[in-house]
Amino acid sequence: MKYSMAASLLIALTILGVAMDGCHCKVVQFIFGDSLSDVGNNEYLSRSLARANLPWYGIDFGNGLPNGRYTNGRTVADIIGDHMGLPRPPAFLDPTLTEDIIMSNGVNFASGGGGILNETATYFIQRFSLYKQLELFGGVQELIRQKIGPTEAEKFFQQSQYVVAMGSNDFINNYLMPISGDSWTYNDDTFLIYLVGTLRNQLKLLHSLGARQVIVFGLGPMGCIPLQRVLSTSGDCQQKSNNLALKFNQLTSKLVMELSNTLPNASIRFGDAYDVVNDVISNPSKYGFDNADSPCCSFGKIRPALTCVPASRLCKDRSKYMFWDEYHPSDSANVIVAKEMIKKLGFGKVNQAGAPSPQPSLAPSDAPVAAPAPSPNA
Ligand SMILES: *[C@@H]1O[C@H](CO)[C@@H](O)[C@H](O)[C@H]1NC(C)=O
Ligand SMILES: *[C@@H]1O[C@H](CO)[C@@H](O)[C@H](O)[C@H]1NC(C)=O
Repeated sequence: MKYSMAASLLIALTILGVAMDGCHCKVVQFIFGDSLSDVGNNEYLSRSLARANLPWYGIDFGNGLPNGRYTNGRTVADIIGDHMGLPRPPAFLDPTLTEDIIMSNGVNFASGGGGILNETATYFIQRFSLYKQLELFGGVQELIRQKIGPTEAEKFFQQSQYVVAMGSNDFINNYLMPISGDSWTYNDDTFLIYLVGTLRNQLKLLHSLGARQVIVFGLGPMGCIPLQRVLSTSGDCQQKSNNLALKFNQLTSKLVMELSNTLPNASIRFGDAYDVVNDVISNPSKYGFDNADSPCCSFGKIRPALTCVPASRLCKDRSKYMFWDEYHPSDSANVIVAKEMIKKLGFGKVNQAGAPSPQPSLAPSDAPVAAPAPSPNA
């Protein structure tokens, strides 16, 4: 008798506890990033020069039509989110976005060409820098507050997962370009201080907006992307670029640890896959790749081609190429990067209690598309 009363009291308190503490909402993701995470924002930026809206982008994803991803298949954030049981957030500029979709799927603000710095990749004309993405997130928060009230909204945003994956463009499409103002204003050390200092302010801003669970992605060996290799006649990796990526990762890892230890209730974590990607590049066959130095999609002998275009040639076996185009890894390479981050950061399932997450209409299958389109000219 006593036992069962205690038990019901406990149950009542638990239910009450849930009602008081938990927002009855799902855990969703908000993604901030560049072309490595863009799922369609630049498709809607009609004047942007960085768009993945033509074949053969997306050839191994869903129906095989371009979907705004700058690769043949999934992004690293897609693969990690799938592993965690999180729905894939739609692009912020997707015209079908509503408060209900935001609450059940989150939002992806990533934009091709975007950088930590506002002035990065200005020659793409339109793209969302990280500050702009944070400003747009503020607008989304206001919509949700109006929909469910400030208290519930605060809980919703505190329990959500955040991904910040930026930095390559600040080097490749800014500091390392002789035409950019930053390239003659700074040297390696002062540029890194400026860049990581800006990221610090942005992560603090994100925290002040209510984000608590944040994952920050580091950079890969960006001196080994095909676009960087063609800068030298030998076709070797650009060691200067790789060293900058390593330094950025060191500084950002330190920054993330410091913020995580000092900002209230923050769990900010850093993950990179530099070493494993470097190993794939040195020993492609060990990982099942035939090619780790040139793009699968290229425009004949004209290199570097700006993007993959309908007239480009595709490699025979896309799963055996590390790079999809001059800048971006293939789906197979993204799987390796995602697996490394999952292992390093110990990601598990998030929405365990709930029903399986509904997939967006363009849900890709892990299997190759049923009838792959024949490679052009191949
Ligand atoms: C960067 O751009 C944002 C708007 O997207 C603006 O609010 C901010 O003041 C800019 N910061 C600097 C340092 O120019
Ligand atoms: C930190 O978490 C505690 C317990 O959930 C909460 O009472 C407090 O308001 C939180 N502080 C901030 C700044 O989020």
